Amino acid sequence: MQMIININGQILPPEKASIPVLDRGFLYGDSIYEVTLTYDKKPFLMKEHLDRLWSSASKIEMHLKYSREDIIREVQKTIDHFGIPRAYIRIIITRGEGEIGLDPNLSDDNNLVIIVKELPENPTWWYEKGVHMIIADLRRLPKKVLDPNLKSGNYLSNVMAHHQAKKVGAFDAILLNMRGYVTEGTTNNIWMVRKDRVITPPLEAGLLEGITRSTLLTIGKKHGIEMVEDNFTADELKSAQEAFLTSSTREIVPITKIDDELIGQGVPGPMYLKLHQIYRDFVRNSLRN
Ligand code: PDD
Repeated sequence: MQMIININGQILPPEKASIPVLDRGFLYGDSIYEVTLTYDKKPFLMKEHLDRLWSSASKIEMHLKYSREDIIREVQKTIDHFGIPRAYIRIIITRGEGEIGLDPNLSDDNNLVIIVKELPENPTWWYEKGVHMIIADLRRLPKKVLDPNLKSGNYLSNVMAHHQAKKVGAFDAILLNMRGYVTEGTTNNIWMVRKDRVITPPLEAGLLEGITRSTLLTIGKKHGIEMVEDNFTADELKSAQEAFLTSSTREIVPITKIDDELIGQGVPGPMYLKLHQIYRDFVRNSLRN
């Protein structure tokens, strides 16, 4: 796997890239991040990812010494150095290093890390057969514990939910909120189709406002599809006509089984196929502009 890492402007091979152990991202998960990809060497939807990065920073009162232009420039520099058309891009900003202690004022500097690695095409079976998800035992963090609409370095509950899925050979886990409603997957948003309406949980359910989610809501509506944000339970999801997940690097992936139950006929459905085509057309058109 080819990879290069930009640390505070310096491009290094992964084995030479390091940050101080007193970095608060390492000590406390006191960091924020974004993940996008390149299509034809161009980072996709950078404006939207930077908007969310700034929103995450403001939610944890993290001062950013970098401007949006600095980040765009550093991302571009790293991609140009890498030279591979399809790359995964992870932008991480930590609150920096300082004396050990929870007080955020112990550091007034950021560490900026940009990881760029080769992103092989996703396996075709995901899209042709669909994937198996489980309902996680763990619940999604309630907003009053840590706002899920904040993309921070605190992913331990998602890590453990994903681990539960991997132990049974599933693709990923779906997290419910404390009221029993579906929120999202561990790194993706969840959708279902019922009575030909396409439904995804509302932000109030407690989830990350995925950029693919927002894009799909907008472009689906433009194509005359009824796209709504509404709560649903795990049982409602399991008895849906269709289900799928979305994320930047995976686009739209049909879900054909949840726990032991097949979704619909257990194969990718017509609404998934239609929406993925609409999404791919949107990607192609955005690359032209
Ligand atoms: N994850 N929900 C969570 C908890 C996520 O971490 C992500 C993204 C999404 C989908 O968001 P988007 O459509 O903006 O990619 C939803 C990235 C891909 C990651 O952590 O690798």
